Amino acid sequence: MVSLCPTILSPFHTKTLTYNSPAQNPNHRPFSVPPLTAVASRSHYETERGFDFEVGDTFFRHESATGRDLGVLAAALYKKCNDKLRVLDAMCGCGIRSLRYLAESKADFVLANDANEDCNGVIVSNLSTVSSEEEGRWKVSHSIANRVLAERYVERDYFDFIDVDSFGSDSSFFRCAFDAVKLGGLLYVTSTDGFSSGGHRPNHSLAAYGAYIRPLPYSNEIGLRMLIGGAVREASVLGYHVSPLFSYYSYHGPVFRVLLRVNRGKPPHGMHYGFICYCDSCGNSQPISWDKLGQMNCPCGTDAPDSLVVCGPLWTGPLHCADYLGEMLSLAGEWGWLGNGTKNDLEKLLNRMINESDPTLSFGYIQLDEIASRAKVNSPPIVTIMSAIQQEGYAVSRSHISNNAIKTNCPMAECIRIAKELRQL
Ligand SMILES: C[S@@+](CC[C@H](N)C(=O)[O-])C[C@H]1O[C@@H](n2cnc3c(N)ncnc32)[C@H](O)[C@@H]1O
Ligand SMILES: [Zn+2]
Repeated sequence: MVSLCPTILSPFHTKTLTYNSPAQNPNHRPFSVPPLTAVASRSHYETERGFDFEVGDTFFRHESATGRDLGVLAAALYKKCNDKLRVLDAMCGCGIRSLRYLAESKADFVLANDANEDCNGVIVSNLSTVSSEEEGRWKVSHSIANRVLAERYVERDYFDFIDVDSFGSDSSFFRCAFDAVKLGGLLYVTSTDGFSSGGHRPNHSLAAYGAYIRPLPYSNEIGLRMLIGGAVREASVLGYHVSPLFSYYSYHGPVFRVLLRVNRGKPPHGMHYGFICYCDSCGNSQPISWDKLGQMNCPCGTDAPDSLVVCGPLWTGPLHCADYLGEMLSLAGEWGWLGNGTKNDLEKLLNRMINESDPTLSFGYIQLDEIASRAKVNSPPIVTIMSAIQQEGYAVSRSHISNNAIKTNCPMAECIRIAKELRQL
């Protein structure tokens, strides 16, 4: 069933839109278009990365700006490498993403779709600030996403970059999106289902993503892995494989967003698709492959009943491609997007994602509170325990998902010992 936002536009009035030229991004050339006279609703305007745009009564969250920044950077990199960029923004709301894909990523063409026809005036007026409709760089449609995707597939009109900014755990568009994306193209998928990732409705996650999810201490990473796993499964039905270029969790919503590269054939580095087993007794996690399902036990030797919590199948491979994130970081630098030191600092986020891409790190993250409670000591400062863990020869990084958590290959028993020793100093 489609759930649409309440978006009844009020009686229109005429308003002059202005374009705000931001100084920091060379792609934000002041367009030599005359001020537009556009039809607008009574509703408010927002500004993002220097673009003024109308929101109307559409669904819009300014907290999703970072997810849009990441998509725009990735699409711009694609355009740089491939010289061509056609974007399908399947659930575009007010069209802010489409606007930014056109203006910042320099998309040659954007198909901006939202099932809700009431969004039309707002989308058209926003996209008109970048180029006129007659120039043919964009088109607006109002169909169910699956229909637009299926129509593009039937027409053999494949897209380089498909952004599906969906609600909840809607995974029904995977198949059609894989059909409509070019081979080597990018698919930017979403889940906002924190109940499923938290293990609170395993039958629902099973239906949506084919993964039986139970509560784990790193449930927000599980949410990303559940989403990627669902995509892996659907892609394989069509003879494709996907690799995540980045995976981003934001607590607003929550929102889980993953950018996948889609290719034909089997994955070159094997299938990272299996089960994750967390031991409640010792606090360690391990991946379990399909052929080891019958032999599950924890190296700690626990025989406590219900101690092992198993989730899956889901993605057990890397959440990001560090090289790709490095390119996104350097492009963000060229555009003057780095180093603002705010809570939503993109530089900090991208660097954390790069650090957590270290393949020697285990999946999941450990909350310092879990170490402290198992060690029965107060939690040491994060930088102190990280440097102590590193000195013992283990890999360790911050997590972009949680400020008070670490990713490491250091076993929990060692983390506990280190935390205790730090408190005795
Ligand atoms: C999360 S909002 C989009 C926000 C927008 N992408 C942004 O960044 O501001 C989801 C949008 O999808 C639309 N929608 C919901 N279900 C849909 C479907 N099955 N097909 C197309 N659009 C849909 C809603 O009307 C809503 O505007
Ligand atoms: Zn154990």
